[in-house]
Amino acid sequence: MTTFSRIFSGIALTVLSVACSKGSDDFIKENIDFAKAQINLAVQSIDNDAEQILTPITINKDNTVKFASYRDWRGGFFPGTLWLLYELTGDSSYIPLAEKYTESIRGVQEVTDNHDVGFICMCSFGNGLRLNSENYEDVIIRTADALATRFNPTVGLTQSWGESEKLDRKFPVIIDNMMNLELFFKASELSGDPKYYEMAVSHANRTLKEHFRPDGSCYHVVDYDPETGEVRKKVTAQGYSDESIWTRGHAWAVYGYAMAYRFTGDRRYIEQSLKTFDVLRNHPSMPEDCIPFWDMCCPDIPNTPRDASSAAILASALYEISTMDVDNPSQYKQYADKIMTSLSSPAYRAQIGENGNFILMHSVGSLPGGAEVDKPLNYADYYFLEALVRKAKIEGSL
Ligand code: GLY
Repeated sequence: MTTFSRIFSGIALTVLSVACSKGSDDFIKENIDFAKAQINLAVQSIDNDAEQILTPITINKDNTVKFASYRDWRGGFFPGTLWLLYELTGDSSYIPLAEKYTESIRGVQEVTDNHDVGFICMCSFGNGLRLNSENYEDVIIRTADALATRFNPTVGLTQSWGESEKLDRKFPVIIDNMMNLELFFKASELSGDPKYYEMAVSHANRTLKEHFRPDGSCYHVVDYDPETGEVRKKVTAQGYSDESIWTRGHAWAVYGYAMAYRFTGDRRYIEQSLKTFDVLRNHPSMPEDCIPFWDMCCPDIPNTPRDASSAAILASALYEISTMDVDNPSQYKQYADKIMTSLSSPAYRAQIGENGNFILMHSVGSLPGGAEVDKPLNYADYYFLEALVRKAKIEGSL
């Protein structure tokens, strides 16, 4: 290479990287502006005089907005969305708003009849603690205590759903439950008590052993005998079939094991996260735009809904993974960028004032249950914004 061509290619590379980073800054800014406008409309449309503050979760069949309290597993995502908007914009007027909706779900610390308290508490109080308020330490530890009531030392896991004679379930544990471990890890950090950390590690290890198939794909539900700790059966509740690849469960596994690696440094966790991601990435039915079908084994593919929520969860997880000690980390950021480009396109991102004021369209709650099929979901929006935060931080614009 001559001196001239070396200088020229250096200039070209600099111009290209400036152009790319400018392009990416614009991409982030445009998405923040959109999210602000849409979420502001959502806030305005909530009945503030209502006796109980409820948060928007999805839309009903008649296109009206459906709301829920902290007793619903989706109850923490709207407060979390407000915290993420504050983080993305730096606009402190979001703080009292985020605090109001976060405070409205404080009752989560008393909930012991399901495992979702980790989702509910960490998206709301967890983000609030990270960004603004020390007043949330206590509620996080108390909610971890509530989750701990569901831990059975014989099985080595926290129980996800209740026992059901009708469904022949005794101690069902779903892969989604990996996400609730963040609450345990955080509670040990805050309290200095290792018991929460130990329950989290026990849960992650047993799930690693029982939930995954040799190719890295995973079961949705593993049911155990609470007396002996033995596995009773491996089935699905929200997937196409027991042996299929229910996409959101896989997204929870990718995210959950990357998060568990962040807290523990246990290499087995990040290896599982990457292996499970590869199942989706290499799946012959993965569409070109990287927005997966709701189940990658559904025989109706391509004539079956996509699931934007899974894509958003994956994008957020992949941005975090791209900052970790893994081979060729930039491949994970590139994939996340591809997802974010698709989600930000008119094919998936709504028009302002439409879609019940949710950001993303085209998610699936439970197709077998006939619930929220091809609808907006507040957790799709939450993970989309979390992915945007992570992308902006990696690129130095936040
Ligand atoms: N249980 C959370 C989900 O439906 O993905």
